[in-house]
Parts: sequence; structure tokens; C-alpha cells
Amino acid sequence: MVLDGAVALVTGAGRGIGRALAQELGQAGASVVCADVRDDIARETAQGLEAAGIPALAQPLDVRSAASVQAAVAAALARFGRIDVLVNNAGIVTLAPLLELAEADWDRVFEVNVKGVFLMTQAVAQQMVKQGRGGRIINIASTAGKIGFPNQSHYCASKAAVINLTRVWAMELQRYGITVNAICPGAVDTELFESCVQWIAQREQLDPDQLRESWIRASLIGRLEQPGEIARVAVFLASPDGSIFNGTALNADGGQSPY
Ligand SMILES: NC(=O)c1ccc[n+]([C@@H]2O[C@H](COP(=O)([O-])OP(=O)(O)OC[C@H]3O[C@@H](n4cnc5c(N)ncnc54)[C@H](O)[C@@H]3O)[C@@H](O)[C@H]2O)c1
Repeated sequence: MVLDGAVALVTGAGRGIGRALAQELGQAGASVVCADVRDDIARETAQGLEAAGIPALAQPLDVRSAASVQAAVAAALARFGRIDVLVNNAGIVTLAPLLELAEADWDRVFEVNVKGVFLMTQAVAQQMVKQGRGGRIINIASTAGKIGFPNQSHYCASKAAVINLTRVWAMELQRYGITVNAICPGAVDTELFESCVQWIAQREQLDPDQLRESWIRASLIGRLEQPGEIARVAVFLASPDGSIFNGTALNADGGQSPY
């Protein structure tokens, strides 16, 4: 197995892409810290892994809080002794056109999607440097950070920030053998995506099914992506074959973004 013996920490592991990440990293041989702001769903993910014979730890984590981040790193070390792979997956979205966007919504999205990624990456990278055996950091960004979407100024800007930070941190951490890459999904069949569909449908008085179809038509694969497909890209980046990637923002978007 390509990740045999590795220890991975996944944020937002309670559902959607994060749960699939925990499952796929585990199936590839990693022990997995399943961290989420919602303790109940983090536990469900970890229990599923344990039932499949994969060592897993459910960890309550709010990526916005430095104390919570430190506690998660400490819990991972107490259980597994080290961290080899970090996947910054936790993210939120709210929708509003620029003319109505509330300052509080801007701050909320940036706190999770940007500050959370900074706090987690700093804490885990410090630990990886101490360990002295390199590491892999994978940020779940979005095509939103490359091409932009209406009604999502704050979300798009937050993901553009993650793409840029990926490059900066890859430059800073390469001397320690730590790679930092981003994955940019397009439209993935999760509750987050569905919440966007419902918001736009209500706002524009459109049929949600037709709206979903229009997203599918905008892709070049004729369907939504599945969480497991994104997770398997992360497994590849974390594997030995992924070592040629550093500082990159890889589109895993069914061809949605030309950049
Ligand atoms: N679904 C898509 O179409 C899509 C497309 C591009 C990028 N993404 C990105 O993929 C990632 C996962 O998205 P998803 O669709 O699985 O979303 P989701 O809403 O289904 O899951 C997100 C998870 O993050 C957790 N979370 C939220 N705030 C947190 C916090 N402060 N601390 C820790 N955990 C927190 C939630 O509890 C939830 O379990 C996000 O970063 C999202 O922006 C999703």
C-alpha cells in the first residue's frame, strides 16, 4: 500500500470530501486523525475506518482556534507518534452578491478557509520539521479560486488565497522535504455543493434540477464529481509518486477551469 505506516490528519473529516479523504488515505495504508468541528460526525468517520481495520482517531477541532489546532496536533502525536500528511479540507461557503455581502459573512468564510489553513499548516509544519523526515501538506482549494463565480466574492477570494499560500509555503518548506500542493475540485456531489444549488435556485427562481444540469453541462465530463475521486488525487499526491509535485494547484474539476 502506497501510504503504509504513514499518519494522516484530515480536517473537516466528518462528511463530504473530508470523510472520503479519511477513507481513501486509510485504505492506502495510513492511520488517520479524523478531525471536525462537529464531534459527532468526526466519530462516525473514525468508527467507519476502525470497522474496516484502519487505525483512526476522532478529534474535535475548530480550525479557527489556535488552541484547538494545538490540541489536535497533541492528540495526534499522543495516539500515533507523528504526522506525515496533513489535508486542509475544512471549508465553508455562504452566498451573497457583492452589493449585499455582509462583513460578518466575509469574516466567517476567511476565518475558516484562510486563517484555519494557516493555523493548521503552521502547527503541523513545525511538527514535521521537528520530526526531520519531511511530509506532505495538501490543501483542498477550488476552481472558485481560479475562475471565480458570481455570488461568492468571499469564497472565491479565500480559495485564491489558499492557492497563493500553497506556492509560498512550498517555497519555504522545500528545504525540510515538505511538499505543499493544492487540489482544485469543480462541482462535487456533497452537502456544500447542494446548499449552493438550493441558494441560487431560490434566489433566481430556478428549478434546482435544471441548475444542477447547467453545472454538469459546464464540465467536460458530463457529470458531477464524487468525493472519492478527489480523495484519490490526494492519496496520489501523498504517495511516493506524488513527490514531483510542489507548490502546484492541481485541477480535479472535470475540465471546468481552463487555467
Ligand atoms: N463540494 C464541492 O463542490 C467543492 C468544490 C470545490 C472545493 N470544495 C472544498 O472542499 C472542501 C470540502 O467540501 P465539502 O463539499 O466536502 O463540504 P461539506 O460542507 O460537506 O464538509 C465540510 C466539513 O468541514 C467541517 N468544518 C466546517 N467548519 C469547520 C471548522 N471551523 N473546523 C473544522 N471543521 C470544520 C464541517 O463540519 C464538515 O464536516 C471545502 O474546503 C470546500 O471549499 C468543495
